[in-house]
Amino acid sequence: MRHLFRGPAVEIKQYLNEQRQIVEAALERYMLKAEGPFVGHLEAMRYSLFAGGKRLRPILCLAAGAAIDSSAATCENLLPIACALECIHTYSLIHDDLPAMDNDDLRRGKPTNHKLFGEAGAILAGDGLLTWAFDLLTGQAAGLTAERRLQITHSIARAAGSLGMVGGQALDIAYENQQFPFEMLRTIHRSKTGALLTCAVQAGAVGAGAGPAETQDLVSYGNGIGLAFQIVDDLLDVTATTEELGKTAGGDAKKGKATYPAYFGVEDSKKMALDAVTAAKDALTGFDEKAEPLRAIADYIYFRSH
Ligand code: IPE
Ligand code: IPE
Ligand code: MG
Ligand code: MG
Ligand code: MG
Repeated sequence: MRHLFRGPAVEIKQYLNEQRQIVEAALERYMLKAEGPFVGHLEAMRYSLFAGGKRLRPILCLAAGAAIDSSAATCENLLPIACALECIHTYSLIHDDLPAMDNDDLRRGKPTNHKLFGEAGAILAGDGLLTWAFDLLTGQAAGLTAERRLQITHSIARAAGSLGMVGGQALDIAYENQQFPFEMLRTIHRSKTGALLTCAVQAGAVGAGAGPAETQDLVSYGNGIGLAFQIVDDLLDVTATTEELGKTAGGDAKKGKATYPAYFGVEDSKKMALDAVTAAKDALTGFDEKAEPLRAIADYIYFRSH
């Protein structure tokens, strides 16, 4: 298998595997079952939610919480929030793949949602996942104080919406095959992808009772890895194979997407991704060993091969 960068440590792979299993079990617990009159719609939602995926946003939420308070109770309290983040992320992928957007056939190693359930079915599956996320945030995270839940729900709404992911997706489409200044490229990446990743970290911090200074440092970490994540996604689209990615490689150039490799070339983009990861880790200098998983995730984001 070809790797974009030289290999990651084995421990991070183990850690991510374990955390992924915790998240998968919680998703199974918190997701609607495919039964009753809406069974077809619920099957479409579950198809994409349980199609695999790295579960990075929920894992970041749990890791940020653990950097503040590593107790099992805090992890348990954060799980509905972690699941809500994954629902929002999965909805964004379903809509991102639609013919009117990136028009992709393959996602998480399987046919895209609209290929199986049709465009209307896929749009509604996305709508259902987005709305279910707020159902979870307001109805399930009962272990958290109402004040923290409100703060987390508000920051997730902000990050997912028109000043965050949705706004970024609108810019991503508007700037296909266009000229633009570098600031616009950075804004697209920070909003379409960085906002939700940062918010996952922030939600974990707030849910675990972080103070304002700690939360600010964790938000800076989130901003660094958030930008790096999309730069690496752009790089992998150029350097990895469809089999490795579980989604069709090489599509960005064909669609005239605003990407770092298209703007700066592969080598400079790698440097910029590394700089963003380094800045993310620098933001954690005030944290103790409980933040080790966050540091390792930052490295993983740079070294990952899919
Ligand atoms: C893909 O996200 C979309 C981007 C924001 C770049 P991931 O690479 O986290 O996708 P999954 O969840 O692992 O499938
Ligand atoms: C997607 O960016 C960002 C989202 C908010 C879904 P891409 O369009 O590059 O993501 P992939 O490459 O299809 O996963
Ligand atoms: Mg896209
Ligand atoms: Mg896409
Ligand atoms: Mg991409």
